[in-house]
Amino acid sequence: MKDPITVSITGAAGQIGYALLFRIASGAVFGPDQPVNLRLIEIEPALPALNGVVMELDDCAFPLLREVVPTADLNEGFRGTNWALLVGSVPRKAGMERGDLLGINGKIFTGQGKAIARNAAKDVRVLVVGNPCNTNALIAMNNADGVPKERFFAMTRLDENRAKSQLAKKASVHHSKVTNLCIWGNHSATQYPDFTNAKINGRPVADVISHVEWLKNDFIKTVQQRGAAIIAARGASSAASAANAAIDTVKSLITPTPAGDWHSVAVCSDGSYGIEKGLIASMPIRTIEDGKWEVVQGVPVDAFSREKIDASIKELQEERDAVKDLLPK
Ligand code: NAI
Repeated sequence: MKDPITVSITGAAGQIGYALLFRIASGAVFGPDQPVNLRLIEIEPALPALNGVVMELDDCAFPLLREVVPTADLNEGFRGTNWALLVGSVPRKAGMERGDLLGINGKIFTGQGKAIARNAAKDVRVLVVGNPCNTNALIAMNNADGVPKERFFAMTRLDENRAKSQLAKKASVHHSKVTNLCIWGNHSATQYPDFTNAKINGRPVADVISHVEWLKNDFIKTVQQRGAAIIAARGASSAASAANAAIDTVKSLITPTPAGDWHSVAVCSDGSYGIEKGLIASMPIRTIEDGKWEVVQGVPVDAFSREKIDASIKELQEERDAVKDLLPK
């Protein structure tokens, strides 16, 4: 048996946490021969609920699950962690401006970035799910002294999965036939699900779906607004699908990407595709091996795509400017 891998999860008593922990503990992420330690981080008032979740984890008697540590202490929560999944954040409430939300969450991610730098394992990787996830990841990354920037990610995989599913439905094919789908930019309503480079059964999407106006309008809008549509239908935000996307993201980052394909995740831009260096922006990524990834180069960006990407990057720049006091020079 391998040595256990340690996974820290913030917001572990929340909706996404509830859909995520049990799958990690069952081996669905790191495989059937990889034992797992869980360090579950919550704010003090949520510790009783978190203890209930821990009781349920006990009651599953998962063969791969070793230690489970519920805590409100960031040092304890990130001690020795190999994967930090930052799910917890403060939701936007009525009357709250986007800037207020950025500021409140920004402070949380400053502390978490510092605690990761102090306590995590040398190979730590950080995936931010809690919104606004790109900018939260930017703050954590810039406050985690000594942790390489390429270890920080923000989740846009749910958007990718949503986009694939919409294209598959429209083309009446199984969603597994849709590949090369890139989400560009911010995980927000400005994100750009790039149908121009996506493929269905290996063919360009526009060769299969001739309804170009649908692709340019309804498709993009449906993906951008899917989160709001789920809230309207369910009375609560996406949780199981978000947890599933977090699992897909981690799996895609530890497994070589199939030849010719890519996956979407927001990473620290190196300036590729004219995206300002240092922003956490979603783009096409290939995993070479566990721990090693690269931005896929040479993906064609036509004028339509350029405009959409630039609009989302502009929003990321504005978010970055709104939290600049939380970013050490
Ligand atoms: P939730 O409200 O059910 O749970 C959030 C949990 O985080 C709560 O238990 C809360 O106590 C905890 N929390 C708050 N501040 C914390 C802190 N400083 N440290 C540790 N824990 C803290 O929310 P849910 O549905 O689980 O969503 C979590 C986040 O994920 C939200 O920000 C949501 O917007 C985001 N999200 C992101 C998606 C993406 O695609 N990137 C998709 C869906 C949700």
